[in-house]
Amino acid sequence: MPTAKTKALVFDVYGTLFDVHSVEEKCQELFEGKGKEISKLWRQKQLEYAFLRQLMGQYASFKTITTDSLRYALKTLNLSFQEVHMQQLLDAYEKLSYYPEVPEVLQQMKHKKLAVFSNGSRDMLEPLIHHSGLAPLFHEIISVDDIKQYKPSPASYNHVLNVLGVEREEVLFMSSNGWDISGAKSFGFQTAWINRSQSPVEELNQKPHHIYEDLNGIVEWR
Ligand code: LAC
Repeated sequence: MPTAKTKALVFDVYGTLFDVHSVEEKCQELFEGKGKEISKLWRQKQLEYAFLRQLMGQYASFKTITTDSLRYALKTLNLSFQEVHMQQLLDAYEKLSYYPEVPEVLQQMKHKKLAVFSNGSRDMLEPLIHHSGLAPLFHEIISVDDIKQYKPSPASYNHVLNVLGVEREEVLFMSSNGWDISGAKSFGFQTAWINRSQSPVEELNQKPHHIYEDLNGIVEWR
């Protein structure tokens, strides 16, 4: 159950508040019959490139990684494309749909200090969150781009503490990404895994404190 010491509710963005696969429609429009395949491979490589760049010490912004991973996905699927197609898909990435329960849940929690914390760079996060209308609900929009260290590195989660001025055990961190929740648990946050994909817990010896099937479950923390 929630503890009185929870001072900040911090949300991952892509996959947690926003559906990364809502870009599939635009992929399908531009590449008939390939929408699902592009979206799936694009997300897979986007995450993979962030992890690899973190391990290599070769940081590039998530905007760069999202562009590079899209190009890789289109080439892998042997699709002929121009830069204009790339730009249309990257623009669509700044207009992703939020999951249906998100606005209502955030409204019920707005008396708490709410923040987002994402691998997304500010030039992606600001347009996305402002376009969605959710921006006024957040105390802070926190990007790893501030410190050039990707999640799940401890340095990335530590940045949240510096921005919000709280201790690690005072943060409830929510993500749909099992790797992200594992990193946050390992760092010392309270964790609530938003298990939208009904996946098993990652075999990383970092069991989430709480597991919910969508964001509605966190209302018990209000
Ligand atoms: C995020 C994605 C990578 O950090 O989950 O928003």
